[in-house]
Amino acid sequence: MISYSLRNRPGPSRRRRSGLRIAIAAGTAGAVAAIGLMATAGSAHAVGTLGNAAAAQGRYFGTAVAAGHLGETAYTNALDAEFGAVTPENEMKWDTIEANQNSFNFGPGDQIVAHAQSQNMKIRGHTLVWYSQLPGWVSGLSASALQSAMNNHITQVMTHYKGEIYAWDVVNEAFQDGGSGARRSSPFQDKLGSGYIETAFRTARAADPNAKLCYNDYNTDGVNAKSTAVYNMVKDFKARGVPIDCVGFQGHFNPQSPVPGDFQANLQRFADLGVDVQMTEVDVAGSGTAQANNYTTIVKGCLAVSRCTGITVWGVTDKYSWRSGDTPLLLDGNYQKKASYNAVLAALGSGGGTSGGTSAGTSSGTSSGTSSGTSAGTSSGTSSGTTGGTGGSCTAAVTAGSQWSDRYNLNVTVSGSTNWTVTANIPYPEKVLSTWNISATYPNAQQLVAKPNGSGNNWGLTIQKNGSTTWPTFTCTTS
Ligand code: G3I
Repeated sequence: MISYSLRNRPGPSRRRRSGLRIAIAAGTAGAVAAIGLMATAGSAHAVGTLGNAAAAQGRYFGTAVAAGHLGETAYTNALDAEFGAVTPENEMKWDTIEANQNSFNFGPGDQIVAHAQSQNMKIRGHTLVWYSQLPGWVSGLSASALQSAMNNHITQVMTHYKGEIYAWDVVNEAFQDGGSGARRSSPFQDKLGSGYIETAFRTARAADPNAKLCYNDYNTDGVNAKSTAVYNMVKDFKARGVPIDCVGFQGHFNPQSPVPGDFQANLQRFADLGVDVQMTEVDVAGSGTAQANNYTTIVKGCLAVSRCTGITVWGVTDKYSWRSGDTPLLLDGNYQKKASYNAVLAALGSGGGTSGGTSAGTSSGTSSGTSSGTSAGTSSGTSSGTTGGTGGSCTAAVTAGSQWSDRYNLNVTVSGSTNWTVTANIPYPEKVLSTWNISATYPNAQQLVAKPNGSGNNWGLTIQKNGSTTWPTFTCTTS
């Protein structure tokens, strides 16, 4: 296992740091590079880390961060050693910050901001207006009340973090997938019409004039109907003076949908509109050379576009990825550098490019006995699966967690053993979005295999409904 030593760089106070961040945001690419290198002088990892290699190219290299993991030394050490920027993975979303109207919870976001500032990292704010992770009260509002609530949310959140955020994803995922080029149905779209996007950007500019304002989306990485719809919106905004500074391309790839051949050309056409472009949530399902080659294409494509200001990967380690079974990141579950890490460093121009890292992935283990698990109904109730194995028997008791329009949580408590394996068969077309407190593997798209990861016997999962709310069946086995 790699051991990282923390940079010993006491940072200025939060207020002093704000001034530095404004200077970075307003500076040229060269200035950003100079500051990035200066900030790491004397560090044991001043040369060769992703953040510094990118800074030498006038770019940042960042990662999504979860506040809940900052207490894990290995996580924080890897974060601090490798990355020059952070994006809170969930902590600045509406359902965390304003779960109840006009009552703001900045605690988890502040935790990430404080950590990032202590390490001279840039911070991307994610996200102000999004149809998902939106508390129920928002969708219950009338049009005029919703307009006020949206403006108030943007203003309150951006004012709280004023001067501290390099770029905000002001509006996230407002367009439909597929060829229609239409806006996605959401409380904002349905009640306020397409003009809500423009209003959001204007409100954001007024709240923090020094933050870069981005539109962020997925499946827009190549030239296609969806990216062209976004392109036309940005072109219109630029023509009419609607404030927009950047477009974020999430960059979630997999073997069926790899980095497209026109990736660089797509970034360039947006840059030619007069906006910065950023890769904002990159992860690539897979492993080995295939995964590494996709990462290389992303980094080289960004470096070839002068207005591509940085790349963010969607997590520090495979084990905490929102799709950990896909092993999509640069460090494996043990914080080992993967072939993809080496490829990124080489593409950034400061690594030897040698591979030799190992990719994460665990086997689904052995089990015996037959399942007696039952599922229970739709959106409420309990379910349990019990099976005897060579190490005794165990039970997985399942209860309903939070629910949203598009997804629902289930909480699982395992009893009878600490050496368990729980297999969940997910009814199609439902899909596991994320898990917590387990080591998760996915033998196929409709199956989750959960094992203890040292966090105890209480764990859970978030399931994307895709039109169905039938619970999975759960089977508990011991070994
Ligand atoms: O961690 C908590 C746990 O402590 C709690 O007990 C449990 C029950 O409420 O919830 C857990 O939170 C989950 C969280 O992930 C952390 O794992 C949420 O339920 C779950 O909804 C959330 O999923 C996030 C997902 O967005 C929601 O849509 C993922 O972490 C996050 O990576 C993902 O990020 C999105 C971007 O914001 C936008 N682009 C797509 C990207 C991937 O879906």
